[in-house]
Amino acid sequence: MRGRFSEDGSTANFGGLNISPAEFRSMDRFMFCACGTALHACMVTEHLIERFARVPVECDYASEFRYRNMPLFSNTLFFVMSQSGETIDTLAAMREAKRKGYKVLAVNNVVGSTIAREADGGIYQHVGPEIGVASTKAFTSQLIIGAMLALYIARMRDMSFSDGVQFVQALKGAPDHVRAVLKQADHIKGIAKRYAKYRDMLFLGRLSLFPIALEGALKLKEISYIHAEGYPAAEMKHGPIALICEDCPALFFVSSGEMFHKVVNSMQEIKARKGKVIAIATESCELPEGLADELITIPECHEAVLPIVATIPVQLLSYYIAVELERDVDKPRNLAKSVTVE
Ligand code: M6R
Repeated sequence: MRGRFSEDGSTANFGGLNISPAEFRSMDRFMFCACGTALHACMVTEHLIERFARVPVECDYASEFRYRNMPLFSNTLFFVMSQSGETIDTLAAMREAKRKGYKVLAVNNVVGSTIAREADGGIYQHVGPEIGVASTKAFTSQLIIGAMLALYIARMRDMSFSDGVQFVQALKGAPDHVRAVLKQADHIKGIAKRYAKYRDMLFLGRLSLFPIALEGALKLKEISYIHAEGYPAAEMKHGPIALICEDCPALFFVSSGEMFHKVVNSMQEIKARKGKVIAIATESCELPEGLADELITIPECHEAVLPIVATIPVQLLSYYIAVELERDVDKPRNLAKSVTVE
């Protein structure tokens, strides 16, 4: 974030977009393509741009976009996200969009990577080299950049100066919230020890926390080899609920606000089928007594910051479960840091 807020503290500034504010403002739609964890960051960004800037956004797997010959609207700005900047499917999606005459901006961590060189402009993540195969700091930094993009676009449209200032303050407060969650590392380690024995797990969340459920499930399977699936919580009753039994715990993201009671209902459906429930809940959520077998409390925070703060406990949980199972956390089997072949 450093150096990327306007002097008046009400919006974001990006140096390398290579597109004028007027051109940016004229866009009717944004399209995001990425793979794996980076796609989950795009999905959170989609939610935030639509919520705060009220501009339609579409996200797609880069591997699908490159072949599906999707019709695009003329005033569409194309984004790709890639930590490495070398992922072949993301690169191919970007080339396809460029061939069709669209401008492509890249969110990327590796300066001088192929994607960075071929993009029309973009935003560097600047989080330093990521050594472990599983994307962690790259993901949280993509979430920050996604939130800042939503702010930037929103302030070009209907977001007021004071709402912009509040948004900026909320983003600046994110590190403190993350620190507060990190203090619970030992508590999360204890949960990991109790749950490492399971072979399947569900991750459930709603709205901007649904992509974090996808990411939590991906992180767990990637480094611990436990089978895990992420779903929007309400989708559970359309099939996955058949899996619920004593041997299949479910992890829920719970936040205060409009979705609270709906998520609680979904948790009760799990409990009724003897499934264990882990809740990652914001501190003002008053969960019915006994509903959660395990509770990780996260700070109440701005909607743009919540996905970041909610990510930390699932990254830690996956990490401690993998350590408990004596997996190679940095180099999980069958995976490469950047996927440069199709
Ligand atoms: O370098 P990229 O961000 O383009 O990589 C995309 C995916 O391959 C990557 O996020 C993958 O899903 C990670 N192993 C997740 O931890």
